[in-house]
Amino acid sequence: MRQDDYTAQVALVLPESGTVAWDSPSNIALVKYWGKKPVQLPANASISFTLKNCYTATKLSFSKAEKRSVKVFVNGKEQSSFLKKIEIFFKRIEDYCPYVKNYAFKIETENTFPHSSGIASSASGFSALALCVLSIERKAAELSDDDFYKKASFLSRLGSGSACRSVYGPMGVWGEHANYEGSSNDFAIAYDDIHEVFKNYQDTILLVDKGEKKVSSTLGHDLMNDHPFAVNRFEEARNHMIDLQKILKDGNILDFNRLVEKEALTLHAMMMTSDPYFMLFKPNTLNIIHKVWEKRESEGIPFTITLDAGANVHLLYPAEYKQVALDFIKNDLIAYCQNEQYICDEVGNGPLLKMEHYA
Ligand code: DP6
Repeated sequence: MRQDDYTAQVALVLPESGTVAWDSPSNIALVKYWGKKPVQLPANASISFTLKNCYTATKLSFSKAEKRSVKVFVNGKEQSSFLKKIEIFFKRIEDYCPYVKNYAFKIETENTFPHSSGIASSASGFSALALCVLSIERKAAELSDDDFYKKASFLSRLGSGSACRSVYGPMGVWGEHANYEGSSNDFAIAYDDIHEVFKNYQDTILLVDKGEKKVSSTLGHDLMNDHPFAVNRFEEARNHMIDLQKILKDGNILDFNRLVEKEALTLHAMMMTSDPYFMLFKPNTLNIIHKVWEKRESEGIPFTITLDAGANVHLLYPAEYKQVALDFIKNDLIAYCQNEQYICDEVGNGPLLKMEHYA
């Protein structure tokens, strides 16, 4: 797909009105995206597991209008606080989807994970919205499935970088990398050259701190621009993408654990060594990490942890250890979770179209 190919033809005869709904999942990166250039281009390639149970359900109703208007409802209540981010998204995609200038939109959205659980809803939220918008275009234009998902990923990226990987299951790769054929900085590609064990890998998210993040991801990314370790970090991420490719294919869980934890800790090390520095770990983040390491050491159970830009801990393990993990969480980890909350999730297959109606 060339840059021009992202742009809808002006002559399209688009529906007058209608409603489209998509469920789109969250994702958890194994090799992290941290650092970007304008507009929303990653400093290094990243790869993630697409999740199954944590998703955003978005319904987009639209009717032709002189100029764009947007109303947003979250869990049935009008929420004007999201309008600013959504307007930035619409502005950014106008060049590629000019028709978004001439609709009155009503966005109704819900997350399956608790509101302010500290789980970023931007990946699932923006990918769900991008899929809804592009469905309108698909009604009028010839778009193959491949091109539909590619452009949906491209548009999602303009909302939030990590969102572009949510468009595909079981894994998404975003960012140009010589070892990943077809990879691009503009959009993510699906990745499934993985061992059976990873196809239903478990991710139990231990909710350590459900509060608003003190430092936004956007600011964190920006701080990588003058970061003293940035060049080495980007080089390391590139190498991790190479190592992980083989690990995922072979199903080597011990190597998987080492690489994934190194990535998670490096991400937070970058935050702690930015100028200004900041720390998203909470004491219970560390308590959980140490408990997991002790358990792994003493009983040889291949648990591993990863983190996103927050205090919550993602506990990753093969499906055969599901019961062991639940017992371990209830006995040893729940005390460190805010209100004893955790979310059981696993690798999923990507977004689902729920409704399409045009007039
Ligand atoms: C640590 O995608 O939330 O989760 O592009 O500014 O919206 P923006 O950032 P965002 O950053 C995610 C960072 C991360 C790592 C990752 O998901 O790769």
